[in-house]
Amino acid sequence: MILEDGKFKGHSILVETLTKEVPECRRKEVRVLDVAAGTGLVGVALAQKGFTNLDALEPSECMLECLRSKNVYTNTFQEFVGQAHTSVPQGCYDVVFVVGGMGYNHIPYTGVLEFVRFAKPGGLVMICMRQDEEDYLTQLKEYMNSLEEQQLWKKVNIG
Ligand SMILES: C[S@@+](CC[C@H](N)C(=O)[O-])C[C@H]1O[C@@H](n2cnc3c(N)ncnc32)[C@H](O)[C@@H]1O
Repeated sequence: MILEDGKFKGHSILVETLTKEVPECRRKEVRVLDVAAGTGLVGVALAQKGFTNLDALEPSECMLECLRSKNVYTNTFQEFVGQAHTSVPQGCYDVVFVVGGMGYNHIPYTGVLEFVRFAKPGGLVMICMRQDEEDYLTQLKEYMNSLEEQQLWKKVNIG
């Protein structure tokens, strides 16, 4: 559960988990894609922890303008996940994450397949989301399980 006292904790959970996962000596080389990056809050926090190889995907022009002004992302993609294949190249990222971008009116649960496409073989896909959209969450979990049955990815952890 990512809600505590009604407050969304996705940003700090993502940064904490990723910094535990990737030792400081590897943070410059690890290639990371921030999906539904918004204003770039998470990118800024990761850059402060030494991650310098960050790209962002975000459909909104004004969010993109804001995140580009933070000067922490190298490449940016102005696209929606979940409609058709995006132009993000296949199999390029060691880490693909989304914070607060999954849910009704945001990325459809089937967008997970696109995250898998973005990741390198052996790469990490990390999803931080609220748990209050129960139907969406149920569909997402079923879909993630079906991708695992197809051996397209492997569940590592659910927090
Ligand atoms: C709640 S904000 C989270 C922003 C950022 N990740 C953060 O944690 O600060 C959700 C973001 O998802 C983006 N978004 C909505 N639908 C999307 C889609 N289908 N594909 C990609 N991004 C989407 C919105 O433009 C918005 O910036």
